[in-house]
Amino acid sequence: MSRALRVAQGSDREKTAERLLNSSADKFYDPEVDIDWQAPLRENMRYAPDHRISLYGTGLWDQLTPEQRIELGKHEVASIASNGIWFEVLLMQMLLKEVYRIDPTTRHAQYALTEIADECRHSTMFARAIERVGAPAYGPPPILKKLGRLLPVIGYGPALYGSILIAEEILDRIQRESMADENVQPLVRMVNRIHVLEEARHVTFARQEVVRGMENLRKWELPYQRLLIAAVAFAITRSLINPRVYKAVGLDPKHAAKVALENPHHQETLRWSGERIMKFLDEAGLVGAPGTRFWKASFLIA
Ligand SMILES: [Fe+2]
Ligand SMILES: [Fe+2]
Repeated sequence: MSRALRVAQGSDREKTAERLLNSSADKFYDPEVDIDWQAPLRENMRYAPDHRISLYGTGLWDQLTPEQRIELGKHEVASIASNGIWFEVLLMQMLLKEVYRIDPTTRHAQYALTEIADECRHSTMFARAIERVGAPAYGPPPILKKLGRLLPVIGYGPALYGSILIAEEILDRIQRESMADENVQPLVRMVNRIHVLEEARHVTFARQEVVRGMENLRKWELPYQRLLIAAVAFAITRSLINPRVYKAVGLDPKHAAKVALENPHHQETLRWSGERIMKFLDEAGLVGAPGTRFWKASFLIA
């Protein structure tokens, strides 16, 4: 790449970071004060739209009472939020590594610090919400939790920012729908609204880094980048609903998780949640061999 192009890219990067810093100063939430944590939960009110619950449309779903369906929705929301914390904690580590490397007087470094601050508040908010609704912080299955530690070590380049985007955009789609649904608990809607609003900046930041990273990538690095992002996408979609949630409504976790995985409604929900980001990643050139099997198994592509 020519020096002129590198300089132009650098100044674009600074401009975006400056704009995002201004937007962050202008609009941000403090969940400690902006959420009424004492407000009672509404009785007989859902925590998620029925059609987004993993067992919706299956024989197991038909056997559940209306109360059990609400209960399962609550535990699935808690599972997704606790996995949100998992991703955010990994993301914070990766951003800190970036800040460690670069000049802190750049807007880019300062925006990275601002994003870490956002994620700190989000993870605290998700943790409080899980505690408030009275569900466990399920997190990912143990094997994925172990493997997750590797990501800040083996991840770099566009696949790293692309992985962040997958987590952020999948969550964004689910939360956007839920925050607009009047049949969902006000507490959950508010948590989702705060998250959606602040994540929009993160998505802009990460998308720019993916495009930039792809431009700077050497040809031999592409297969590794494609494999890494596909494997992470698979891990993300598989971790969202921890099988232990099914225990809360008296179902066998192993069996119910298998039913959910084979449930066309649930597969469609996953595809729908990744629709926007997959189009972007595909156009960027990150979707393809040798990662195709992981993508298919993640249900993000048909
Ligand atoms: Fe977040
Ligand atoms: Fe984020």
